[in-house]
Amino acid sequence: MTTFNIETLQTELLQKNPRTILKAALAHFDNIAISFSGAEDVVLIDMAVKLKKNIQVFSLDTARLHPQTYRFIEQVRKHYGIEIHCLTPDATALENLVKSKGLFSFYEDGHQECCAIRKVQPLKRKLSQLDAWITGQRKDQSLDTRQDLPEVQIDTAFSSAEKTLIKFNPLANWSSAQVWDYIEAYQVPYNELHSQGYISIGCEPCTRAVLPNQHERAGRWWWEEGKKECGLHAGNIKN
Ligand code: ADX
Ligand code: SF4
Repeated sequence: MTTFNIETLQTELLQKNPRTILKAALAHFDNIAISFSGAEDVVLIDMAVKLKKNIQVFSLDTARLHPQTYRFIEQVRKHYGIEIHCLTPDATALENLVKSKGLFSFYEDGHQECCAIRKVQPLKRKLSQLDAWITGQRKDQSLDTRQDLPEVQIDTAFSSAEKTLIKFNPLANWSSAQVWDYIEAYQVPYNELHSQGYISIGCEPCTRAVLPNQHERAGRWWWEEGKKECGLHAGNIKN
């Protein structure tokens, strides 16, 4: 890790393009990983492999992703010749949840409990081993929670007393259209669900295709009201 000042870095990266932000992230940190959801954030991997050998990539395997997403993660692994660390939820916590509440409790009492076990705890475990991480979040993904997304930030949700964790969001300033132009221009592989009306892709029971002109977040946890964040990016929610 090089020494730097977060405010200076924020000013340097303000309104910059994804490659510039990614390059700075990889230059400042060795112990840094891309958090890959199996959706259009694949563009980060495409850019990163051109900048550095042996990039670290991880995915949160909730055990509830679509079959198409599992196949896509495997396709990406082979296409780029990279390792993808798939993180599994804690077996005891998951078995207890399913034993007491079944496999679809989120439709009855909200997604937070299941997301905590299947996504947030495994993420916490992974982030405790890193100095910084890279996400595919964009401002245009959510008017509610991501409009003020910075290019780089201190991750207030996952930093500890011992360690300040840095979070980079290289796609922050790109629109969905720019991401898809990149995928087309560089022939980047993509999840086949995108050809079936899916825009934002999460777990299978909690994601659905959207209608023309519906916002992409409308396809996530559609039965719930309120801020659609699952805890990975808890810092986005301001009271
Ligand atoms: S979520 O919080 O609503 O699920 P979203 O699907 O918008 O997140 O994805 C934003 C970014 O969060 C992705 O580009 C990726 O960096 C990270 N992310 C989301 N889901 C996963 C996952 N299953 N595994 C790894 N990273 C993920
Ligand atoms: Fe569970 Fe749905 Fe959250 Fe996936 S998105 S972890 S299935 S509540």
